[in-house]
Amino acid sequence: MGIHSPYEVDDHRPSEVSSTRHHATERRTRLTCRAVSTSISGVGILPVVHGYDSTSYGDGFADVYDEWYAEVTDVAATVGRLFGLAGPSGRVLELGAGTGRLAAPMAVAGLEVVGIDSSAAMLARIAAQPGGEQVTALHGDMVRDLPDGPFDACLVAYNTLFNLLDAVDQQQCFRSVAERLRPGGAFVVEAIVPDLGAPAGGDVSVRSMTTDRVVLSVSDHRPAEQRTSGQFVELTEAGGVRLRPWSIRWAPPAELDAMAAAAGFELAERFADMAGAPFDDDADHHVSIYRR
Ligand SMILES: C[S@@+](CC[C@H](N)C(=O)[O-])C[C@H]1O[C@@H](n2cnc3c(N)ncnc32)[C@H](O)[C@@H]1O
Repeated sequence: MGIHSPYEVDDHRPSEVSSTRHHATERRTRLTCRAVSTSISGVGILPVVHGYDSTSYGDGFADVYDEWYAEVTDVAATVGRLFGLAGPSGRVLELGAGTGRLAAPMAVAGLEVVGIDSSAAMLARIAAQPGGEQVTALHGDMVRDLPDGPFDACLVAYNTLFNLLDAVDQQQCFRSVAERLRPGGAFVVEAIVPDLGAPAGGDVSVRSMTTDRVVLSVSDHRPAEQRTSGQFVELTEAGGVRLRPWSIRWAPPAELDAMAAAAGFELAERFADMAGAPFDDDADHHVSIYRR
């Protein structure tokens, strides 16, 4: 058993069969393994990805992000959820807005959207999305560079909070958001429920393969540090080798609730997905709505 990128979607491709616990929907991001991954025995603990910083993920994935992750999470449900929380023409802040996958549709729906991201390469793609020109895109850090409020709602989608690689930064992120929300404003956190029983170690699997291209997923899971890191290694006849690194510091919902409480939030609602599926012990994903 090994750990795959939490940014991957379990789409039941023949080569990637889910082996993990029951899940309520077929399409889910997950931090757990798939049965047909080619785990390497004897590799042991791989080194963490050195030289990784807050720009590494976005700069590494900007050119493939919209293609690889077009189907992760429910965009329409996310727009509906934020629209419901912020109200018509409400002001919404998205942390780690990336290519505008969510920010642009929220703007099209009539919300006033400010998106911040540490990767210029990701942000450069927002303008090309339908409605992207309506998004205010800020280049900066989602802890230290947040714009002035007040906002009606803030969204940190799709495990993006876990891009902050230590608990201190994650805690400070809750505080920074709390300071910028109007009283009663909502902070929506979408993340995996980490599998706390997943063993430490390295894993290699095939993400995709054609006659002239193979993408391998190499990952290293460190439960004691709540850290999972990896590389997508793309090998092509024409282009040689391309590395796309990722790293997350994951936290279970109870730890996020404690961070939220310390920042003055209360957990108002928790679902298993943006559409509002009930959250229960089998959920491998949560959408938590904190109110201040
Ligand atoms: C998984 S992507 C999510 C993008 C978008 N929210 C979505 O759901 O499609 C994570 C994004 O967070 C950005 N990011 C990582 N660390 C960051 C930081 N410290 N401050 C701001 N953005 C950050 C990355 O550049 C990347 O665009």
